[in-house]
Amino acid sequence: MAVKRILTIQDERLYQVSEAVQKFDSNLRNLVRDMFDSMAAEKGVGLAAVQIGVLKRVLVIDLIEKGFIKGAFVNPRLLEASEEMQDGEEGCLSVPGLSAELKRPRWVKIGYQDLSGNEKTVEGEMLLARAFLHEMDHLDGKVFVDKLEPKLHKELSGDIERIKRGLRVEHPVEPKYRKKKAS
Ligand code: NI
Repeated sequence: MAVKRILTIQDERLYQVSEAVQKFDSNLRNLVRDMFDSMAAEKGVGLAAVQIGVLKRVLVIDLIEKGFIKGAFVNPRLLEASEEMQDGEEGCLSVPGLSAELKRPRWVKIGYQDLSGNEKTVEGEMLLARAFLHEMDHLDGKVFVDKLEPKLHKELSGDIERIKRGLRVEHPVEPKYRKKKAS
């Protein structure tokens, strides 16, 4: 068991592109174990290797409790995505204290390799599709807050800047769309 510290958007590594995995060895298996441990410790549902400081194209997902799957995905790539989109709240262990609405395709098909290097595909919809797309963005050095609608990004920019400076957000800004929904 090795729980690693999860980098926040203060760290430049989160904006770098991760490298493809070439060796399917015990180092990879240990990395994946650390990723599952680190994710579970923070009650996350997805994690990319870069979030524990390893710039390799590996992600883990645990959406078992939501009725989906748990697994590790190496060198994942998007094969297909539905034109139909979904709305949903998104958060990230690297952006602690903040969540916001982000449109994503409703369904995706992903190609990836398993821990032995075998080529596989997996399909997912709704929350699982969102998790795959969110974690694959991390592998390309992208964080979800930078993909928000410009208006929403502006509303949350104070909090985002605080987190980028390594500060905590105790009382996150309530975006307008949420107030509208509540009323
Ligand atoms: Ni994330």
